[in-house]
Amino acid sequence: MDIMKPIAVIGTNAWGGKLYGKAIRGNYVEDDVIMDAMRTAKECDMAIYDLARDYGLGKAQKMIGNFGTQDIIISAKYTPFTHYKKGCVRKSLMKDLSDFKRDYVDIYWLHLPTDIREHLEEIIELYNEGKIKHIGISNFTLEECKLSKSILDAHHIPLYGVQNHYSIICREWEKNGLLDWCKENNILFWGWAVLEEGLLVDPRVKKRSPMKFTFNGKVRKLAPVYKVMIKVADRHGIKVPQVAMAFCASKGVIPMCGCRKPEQVKDLADAASIRLTMGEIRKLEESADRANVSIMGADLFRPFVLKEKRKG
Ligand SMILES: NC(=O)c1ccc[n+]([C@@H]2O[C@H](COP(=O)([O-])OP(=O)(O)OC[C@H]3O[C@@H](n4cnc5c(N)ncnc54)[C@H](OP(=O)(O)O)[C@@H]3O)[C@@H](O)[C@H]2O)c1
Repeated sequence: MDIMKPIAVIGTNAWGGKLYGKAIRGNYVEDDVIMDAMRTAKECDMAIYDLARDYGLGKAQKMIGNFGTQDIIISAKYTPFTHYKKGCVRKSLMKDLSDFKRDYVDIYWLHLPTDIREHLEEIIELYNEGKIKHIGISNFTLEECKLSKSILDAHHIPLYGVQNHYSIICREWEKNGLLDWCKENNILFWGWAVLEEGLLVDPRVKKRSPMKFTFNGKVRKLAPVYKVMIKVADRHGIKVPQVAMAFCASKGVIPMCGCRKPEQVKDLADAASIRLTMGEIRKLEESADRANVSIMGADLFRPFVLKEKRKG
């Protein structure tokens, strides 16, 4: 697979131990099913995994390392929960590499825009040593993206991508110009949680999940959106969640989706090559805008972003 043109990306947030899978998704998926999903990803030419240290409470990265990282693309992150301290990124990446049993990651993202310049400078050092092949940023606003690009430009290093929340019902990045800016600058935009953690999965299929509590009220408000999704799904002969995936792909966003089972990987790979018509896109967007469901986009991780340290 061409790293500059991934069709879609497999999210690993919900991989992991019994308690964790149950707590965040309402059900546990055995490790060997996830291993099967990884084999399916290879068959679909979509063996590209989005990871972070805390995914699956640390288990996701180890599972990838144990599966074997030959011919797969690894996207990993540095999550700055504290202010920058010299060597913090290096220390974290070295632990990641030991999980992956590899001496480099394909894409490394700064997960939050805390102390942007200091963190990026250290990431650049690791890039120059060959431990990182591409650099990305995640949960950044347009202004923060521009600053990051200027820091990388000064080192003649391209900004690979921006990884932000995006779905039919969370499109603020196209409304405030970030998506267009990425396209104009040949920067990829990866959209995370395109299924809104299950909210955009077919509501006719009843599933038990603690997430349902957070969906309270939203499912009712989204009824007209589901109606359009069902119509579009029928027209293309696909499943309802695949409409959410195809929507992203049709908008030039690389869909990232939490897959734990082989059939979910297949659904994602199939959906990512489907292009919706302009009319279908318009109807989905209009119904989503009318539903006006409040979804945390840019704001979701803002409480974790530390304000710049007072200098002097
Ligand atoms: N950069 C960031 O800050 C950030 C933040 C959040 C997430 N992410 C990345 O984005 C990825 C995706 O987000 P997510 O995993 O939280 O949520 P998601 O992909 O929006 O939704 C996952 C839910 O969708 C279901 N699902 C997946 N494929 C399906 C299919 N084909 N048909 C029906 N249902 C399907 C899953 O079902 P099951 O429960 O049955 O598996 C699960 O309930 C994460 O794994 C992570 O890699 C990044």
